Amino acid sequence: MASFSMFKFTLLLSLLVVFVKGDPDITDDFLIPSNVNPNSIDGNFFTFTGLRKIVGSNVPDFRATKVTKTEFPALDGQGVSLSILQFPPGSINPPHSHPRSWEALFVLSGSVELGFIDPSTGKLNNKTMPTNYFYVVPQGTMHYQQNANKSAAASVLSAFGSSNPGTISLPTALFGTGVDDKILSRSFATDVDTIKKIKAAFGGTKF
Ligand SMILES: *[C@@H]1O[C@H](CO)[C@@H](O)[C@H](O)[C@H]1NC(C)=O
Ligand SMILES: *[C@@H]1O[C@H](CO)[C@@H](O)[C@H](O)[C@H]1NC(C)=O
Repeated sequence: MASFSMFKFTLLLSLLVVFVKGDPDITDDFLIPSNVNPNSIDGNFFTFTGLRKIVGSNVPDFRATKVTKTEFPALDGQGVSLSILQFPPGSINPPHSHPRSWEALFVLSGSVELGFIDPSTGKLNNKTMPTNYFYVVPQGTMHYQQNANKSAAASVLSAFGSSNPGTISLPTALFGTGVDDKILSRSFATDVDTIKKIKAAFGGTKF
């Protein structure tokens, strides 16, 4: 029974996984947004300073600070972006995937347990990662992280092979987007009331 549920869970995961390649090749050295005067391009255009206050700071809940082409337009077409993940003691980053990129995680401080699910076999590949460990999550696969330590915070630098890797949050996609209660209760072999309870926690959550 447990393995059957796992199979269904994996099936749902695979349905949410979209395999799309990273940034397309561009025919210029770099892309200049239409609202930026090309004559004004200098070192500042290629510099992002928004992470200075984040690295080393404390947060009340798990927080991912993304630096994609939206936050930093110079990344557009370069096939790279970053994220700083901050984990207060005992916090989690729920299961999610990045449809357009792998994720390379480097633990800056503390210790993080993470894992991704192999879409072909349903096997969980998890690992406890102390400071300075480097882990790669394959493109599009469902993964999570947690800081199991109840007294020490942890932080991670994540790199992506796309300027816009995208994120599909599994809890939000399933319970925060209006998928019918009966479909979800049958999918998870539970009653509609349980689904309603779970949904209440995600009401209004956006991607
Ligand atoms: C991996 O997950 C299994 C199942 O939840 C758990 O028992 C094990 O402790 C985890 N291993 C690591 C290294 O976190
Ligand atoms: C939590 O982190 C602290 C500080 O690094 C360390 O001393 C302690 O052993 C950790 N606790 C566990 C359960 O890993």
